Amino acid sequence: MTPPALTNPDDAPAAVVTAVDWTADGTAVRIVDQTRLPADFVTLELRTVEEICEAISALRVRGAPAIGIAGAMGLVVAVAPFVDESIDRFRWRVAGAAERIGATRPTAVNLRWALDRLLRRMVDTGDDPGTILAVIRAEATSIRDEDRRMCREIGENALHLVPDGARVLTHCNAGALATGGIGTALAPLYLAHAAGRRIQVFVDETRPLLQGSRLTAWELQRAGIDVTVLCDGMAASLMAAGGVDLCVVGADRIAANGDVANKVGTFGVALAARHHRIPFHVLAPSSTLDPATPDGARIPIEQRAARELTHVAGRRMAPDGVQVYNPAFDVTPASLVTAIVTDRGLFRAPYDFST
Ligand code: MRU
Repeated sequence: MTPPALTNPDDAPAAVVTAVDWTADGTAVRIVDQTRLPADFVTLELRTVEEICEAISALRVRGAPAIGIAGAMGLVVAVAPFVDESIDRFRWRVAGAAERIGATRPTAVNLRWALDRLLRRMVDTGDDPGTILAVIRAEATSIRDEDRRMCREIGENALHLVPDGARVLTHCNAGALATGGIGTALAPLYLAHAAGRRIQVFVDETRPLLQGSRLTAWELQRAGIDVTVLCDGMAASLMAAGGVDLCVVGADRIAANGDVANKVGTFGVALAARHHRIPFHVLAPSSTLDPATPDGARIPIEQRAARELTHVAGRRMAPDGVQVYNPAFDVTPASLVTAIVTDRGLFRAPYDFST
C-alpha cells in the first residue's frame, strides 16, 4: 500500500504519519503495522483484546506514547460489543481487558497511565454501560489529542537546541510513529527543518529490532530531512571524529530522580556523549514521567524473546541452544542527561519529578 498523503494537518509543516487512530466508524483501532516498515506500508484494524495485545506485544504499534494511545483506544473498542450486558458484568470486562492490555509491555509507563485514566473516569460515571463507554471513548480521544499537543510543545521547547547546521544523533524511534503527533526526540528536528534550518541526523540502526534504520530513517527521509543510518557500534567513533553536535532520544519511563529508561543502547550513547562532551538530551511528554518510581533501579525492564537476537530475517545467527540476554530497554542515569525536555519545559539536574 502506498503511504497516505501527509496527515496531522494541525502539526504541519511536519510531514508526519498517523501511527494510531480510530477507524472512521469508531469500531476499531487503526494502526500502521510497524513490523512491515520500511518495505511495506500496511494498516491493521484491531477490535478484540487479543488483537490489541498481540499488536502491542509484537511491536506492530510501539513507542511509549503510541502504546498508551493504542491501549486506551483498544480497551474501548474491545468492550464496546458488551455494552448491553449488566453493569457488573460490563465493569468486570473493562477491568479484565485493562489488566491484559496493561501487562503486554511493562517498561513504558504511558500504557498503564493511559489505562488507569480510563478506569478512573469510570468511577463516578454511574451504572449505565452505554454512558461509561461514551465517557471512556472521549477520554481515549483526549489522550490522543493531548499527546499530539505535547509533541508539538516538546518540539517548541527544544527547538533552540537544534541550530542551523546541527548534526544530531538519535537512537531508536521517538518520532511520529511512536506518538500521536510529531514525535518527541524528533519533534524539534521536524520543526527545525520546517523553519529552514539545515540539519543532519544520524540514526543508530538500533539492534535488535532496528527501529532506527527501519522506522526513524523512513519517517525522516519521507519528510525530506538529511538522514544517515549507522550501526550502533559506530556512534562513539562518529562522536570521536567530531561528527555529532548533540544527541536526542525519547524515553519509556523517567523516574522521579531523572533516571531514564529507553531503548537498549541508549545508555551507551549517553556514556559516549559524556566522554566527548556532547550534549545528551531526553525529550518526552509529561505522561512518561513517573513520580511513583523513585529511581531507575525500580523501573521494570521488559525481557524479550531470545529469537529477536538469535535470528535475523528468519535466519539463525547464533548457535542453537546458546543462552541469550535480551532486555528491551536500559536505564541511563540522570547524571549523564544534559537536559530533559517535556511539554512543561526544559529541566536540568538535579531533577525532581516526584510531584
Ligand atoms: O520497543 P519500542 O520500539 O517500543 O521502544 C521505543 C523506545 O524506546 C522509544 O525511544 C521510546 O518509547 C520513546 S517514543 C516517543
